[in-house]
Amino acid sequence: MTPAFDTLLVEVDGRIGRLTLNRPDKLNPLSTHTLRELAEAAHWFDTQRDVRVVVVSGAGRAFSAGADISSFGEDPSNDALSPRDSAETGWLMARAFEQMRAVTIAAIWGPCIGGGVVLAAVCDLRIAATDTYFSIPEVDLGIPLAWGGIPRLVRELGPAITRELVMTCRPFSADEARALGFLNRVVAAESVMAEAGQLAADLAQKSALALYASKTGVNAALEAMAPASAAWSDADSLVAALGDPESRRLGNEYLRRVRKEASGENPSDRHG
Ligand code: COA
Repeated sequence: MTPAFDTLLVEVDGRIGRLTLNRPDKLNPLSTHTLRELAEAAHWFDTQRDVRVVVVSGAGRAFSAGADISSFGEDPSNDALSPRDSAETGWLMARAFEQMRAVTIAAIWGPCIGGGVVLAAVCDLRIAATDTYFSIPEVDLGIPLAWGGIPRLVRELGPAITRELVMTCRPFSADEARALGFLNRVVAAESVMAEAGQLAADLAQKSALALYASKTGVNAALEAMAPASAAWSDADSLVAALGDPESRRLGNEYLRRVRKEASGENPSDRHG
């Protein structure tokens, strides 16, 4: 039976699975709960022997606005998880996705931010709409890009551009992401799901063994280039940053600006 999740939709149609982030009113943020559900869904797909390809997307107008900032600044002792366990959920999610048996295709449109970029990066193939808005604002939030995001972006984009995008937090477009090699295809917004569906259908006809061997072969080569497994300590950097006074002050100033803009006060063009 297909499992029910609070923040995700999971479907299977023959050899093709679909996983949809499903909090469209909040632009599909990645709360600790969602991260745990994503890891659980990835493990569930691994038990579905018929599923060869999984299309990953977001409901509504966003892929994902990244880490759930509504809980930023809350007392971590209110969480059922320890601060470190909570900080580690993103890394565990990314690992579960990267290691999924099925080939994963990210179908991306609208905002794809922070942890959303990491989620896209741990999918095997990426198709995005021309209107996709990428950014990695963690450093502006006073935290490092965690969840194993750095080695994965270094692998996909190269070190110089990873430094620039992560340190400056400047947004980047689908065309730039395609030119950098992060995206396989850029298509009109209304064609993204059809394009991803067609690619999934084409792949689903191929030998499951040959697909899996190709996927794990690429992953093994990537792991040798810059191991994401070594980013286990990302959770420690995250916990340290959440306790660092200067990081908190600057991060809170940034959050106040973002929230003011969202409420219409002091509006500015956040889409760069
Ligand atoms: N976590 C939780 N809620 C989020 C969110 C996030 N990361 N991003 C957006 N939302 C919520 C907003 O609070 C808003 O909720 P509301 O309607 O109840 O007020 C809703 O999603 C729509 O967001 P809004 O800001 O009105 O949409 P927009 O199109 O004007 O702007 C963004 C889109 C993505 C540019 C903007 O929402 C944003 O900057 N979000 C924060 C991104 C971020 O810093 N993520 C953390 C990465 S580490």
